[in-house]
Amino acid sequence: MTGTREKKRTPRQYALIAGSGFRDFGADSATHIVETEYGEPSSPVRELEYGEHKVFLIARHGDHLRIPAHRVNYRANMTALRKLGVDSVVAINTVGVINGQLLPGQLAVPAQLIDYTWGRGHSFHEGESDNLAHIDFTEPFCSDLRQKILDAAEAAGIACHDGGVYAVTQGPRLETAAEVRRLALDGADFVGMTAMPEASLAMELGMHYACLSLIVNFAAGCGQTAIHEDLEAHTATAKMQSMKVLRQFFHAVY
Ligand code: HPA
Repeated sequence: MTGTREKKRTPRQYALIAGSGFRDFGADSATHIVETEYGEPSSPVRELEYGEHKVFLIARHGDHLRIPAHRVNYRANMTALRKLGVDSVVAINTVGVINGQLLPGQLAVPAQLIDYTWGRGHSFHEGESDNLAHIDFTEPFCSDLRQKILDAAEAAGIACHDGGVYAVTQGPRLETAAEVRRLALDGADFVGMTAMPEASLAMELGMHYACLSLIVNFAAGCGQTAIHEDLEAHTATAKMQSMKVLRQFFHAVY
């Protein structure tokens, strides 16, 4: 046989994990109730349509209830997505900003994280096992997925900070000013509550994972206004910008 036939690559199956402020996102879409050995995911898994492609969506903090970050069943969420064939996860999360070059209302795609959380279901490797896996977590986020998000932001004309260190705290309370000073000394640019254990569970399951972070406040002690005033003033703007980036992202990848 002469000539080469181009092999069509199977497109990735994407999912979004939506954070606070996105509770009604995709409310009219079809849903999947997925059972997992870790229990129920935070919400039914919604199926958003992008052209002929579908994107799965989990509301991290639940559809109606607000499940606080430290009580989210991260293992059930990631397992449910994997069971539906998801291999690439874009996680949306809100963060407070420590880095003085950035402002609430802006977006960022962090490149690194420091995990300060505890007592969450951090791994699928529990108990004794013959094939104990130590994932290489040097780069906690998928560089290719990060770049695709950044490219989408650029194409959509939305400013989006490339990089930075996301400090993941336990919550649900916000930090003290002294804690944020320590996070700054540790090298953190943002502080949020949800990138862990999502990022490492995704890696354990062999899934690509990156965060699109919505900067919604100055971290404790970094701003002049009360944090809840920041949240009120900036969450809607950051959310609107992120929706534009996501629209462009799915337009580009599918
Ligand atoms: N700290 C922790 N988590 C957050 C913050 C914060 O300042 N803002 C949004 N999520």
